Amino acid sequence: LKDSFIETISLSNPINAVLLASGRGSNAKALLEYCRSEENLKSQNPWNICLIITDNPNAGIISIAKDFGVHCEVVEYPKGTKENAVERREQYSASLIKTLKINEAEITFAICAGFMKILTSSFLDYFKESHIELSRVINIHPSLLPSFPGAHAYEDAFAYGVAVSGATTHFVDEKIDNGPIIAQSIFNRSPSDTLGSFKAKGLSQEHPLFVKTLKIIQNNKLRFIEQPQNSRLVVQIIEDENEN
Ligand code: GAR
Repeated sequence: LKDSFIETISLSNPINAVLLASGRGSNAKALLEYCRSEENLKSQNPWNICLIITDNPNAGIISIAKDFGVHCEVVEYPKGTKENAVERREQYSASLIKTLKINEAEITFAICAGFMKILTSSFLDYFKESHIELSRVINIHPSLLPSFPGAHAYEDAFAYGVAVSGATTHFVDEKIDNGPIIAQSIFNRSPSDTLGSFKAKGLSQEHPLFVKTLKIIQNNKLRFIEQPQNSRLVVQIIEDENEN
């Protein structure tokens, strides 16, 4: 095996980010709250969510964006048939990139918070790191990846009968719910859990996990190691010496 290499990612100051969301927006709200916090504002690389994009004109995120004074654009997904699905996906990425360019400052990060559309490589290329095979695009997924990828992770994990489940934050690559894992959080399913209580347990863990992920990134605690045996980039989190 060839030697692994260790790389980090480049951060702008502030980290101007676009947030993509399709629905209720509870994760987005937790991140916007963190952005306002003193901890973030005093950080060396404060997060600045300067634009929100949703594909859903009825999404809860629209009023949340208003409450936080962040510009929100509705970019609807083009309608069509199965036959032109690939073309529509490309069209949508082009519309997203066009929307990013309306922002005055350069947007260097994308955060998917309950965004239910697949991003293409042309969108990912917009956020590509120059020195490693990685885009500055992150996502939260409601399962312990690589188990239960896809759009119905809580339902799928619950129906499968897992004893333990959780949430995962990860970098986004061309494959669905596949990129390097940043952080995970777990919870136990109890015998009395219904799908509703199982989802509620998970969601209450998603919000702090996502905020923790933003902190890991802004504090430059991420290192990437190439794993030659499966060609994966694996994330290592550098811990503070005085943390233990
Ligand atoms: C969250 O559970 C998030 O993990 C999930 O959608 C929900 C959005 O809730 N995302 C996915 O399933 C992505 N594959 P929110 O709008 O309240 O943040």
